[in-house]
Amino acid sequence: MTWLITGGAGYIGAHVVSQAANSGLKTFVVDDLSTGISTRLKSEIELRKFSLQDTSSLQALFQEHDFEGVVHIAAKKRVGESVERPDYYWQENVVGYQNLLGVMAKHDVKNLVFSSSAAVYGEPNESSDSLISESTMCSPINPYGETKLECERLSEAFSGETGAKVISLRYFNVAGAGRPDLGDQYIFNLIPIVFDALDRGQQPQVFGNDYETIDGTCVRDYVHVQDLAKAHMDAMEHVVTAQPFYLPINIGTGYGASVAQVLAMISEVTGQKIDPIVAPRRQGDPASLVADVSRAAEILNWNSEQGLREIVSSAWDAWQLSHK
Ligand code: UFG
Repeated sequence: MTWLITGGAGYIGAHVVSQAANSGLKTFVVDDLSTGISTRLKSEIELRKFSLQDTSSLQALFQEHDFEGVVHIAAKKRVGESVERPDYYWQENVVGYQNLLGVMAKHDVKNLVFSSSAAVYGEPNESSDSLISESTMCSPINPYGETKLECERLSEAFSGETGAKVISLRYFNVAGAGRPDLGDQYIFNLIPIVFDALDRGQQPQVFGNDYETIDGTCVRDYVHVQDLAKAHMDAMEHVVTAQPFYLPINIGTGYGASVAQVLAMISEVTGQKIDPIVAPRRQGDPASLVADVSRAAEILNWNSEQGLREIVSSAWDAWQLSHK
């Protein structure tokens, strides 16, 4: 049977679709192609272009297909943009998801994996070397995080009302590429921002070097997108066999890397000297966000396999392909 992957032409979605195909799982993609790129998908993958705001297209699709389950990845994900356009983010991320859940309920589709984010935690009020577990209080600090938390609440309610089996995967800092043609083509996060600066012959900025961390720069949990895609496979497999439930699960590595360590790795991989400019702290940046990944290991038997070197070198290969 076929799984519906919303946002399947996006950076993360296309990795999920590709891994599903490699493990013999059939997928069907819905993507409005606002940020997704159709050529990321092999020709045998069926793609329909529409927005989840379009309830009649969703209804028609579910009438045509008997989906085994849904992996819902389609969403707007730029934190800064969400601050400027909170209503737009609510409409796209929350209302679109409500439409999807309504149609799933009507067609009795009960297996669901939802793309959530560590942004639901906000700035956890814990010492900077403690890990973030799923029981850490959720308190988003931007509209993007608020939309993800609201979608988690909707997911839990959907499970309670319909008997669905639902996992929310809370992604930490996703980076890297499973294949050079699947890379992240946007310049919104640290690693592509640094590549872009190097290409322009400029030095990257470090937002603050006076945090209480190993070297004063912010620490994040960078997880390889290929490992993340595997977590989706494991979550899909799990929900199919489970009893009705709702569970959020962190997806990270359990290890933090500071901005300075990421820059050092980029310098090593690219062979370019990096002498960063220290800029003021960026508003809303917690000192450290590192996942406690014990639940992923326990429930999904999932662990990350790739480290910072693989993340940076695969991202660099992809960057060179798309920016030369
Ligand atoms: N940073 C710099 N210089 C830059 C860009 C970023 O020093 O030019 C630093 C940031 O201050 C931060 C780290 O690099 O400490 C990572 O920043 P990103 O913007 O790449 O990522 P964030 O940790 O802010 O957020 C990312 C995703 C969110 C997600 C979150 C979950 O963009 O969508 O991870 O942990 F919610």
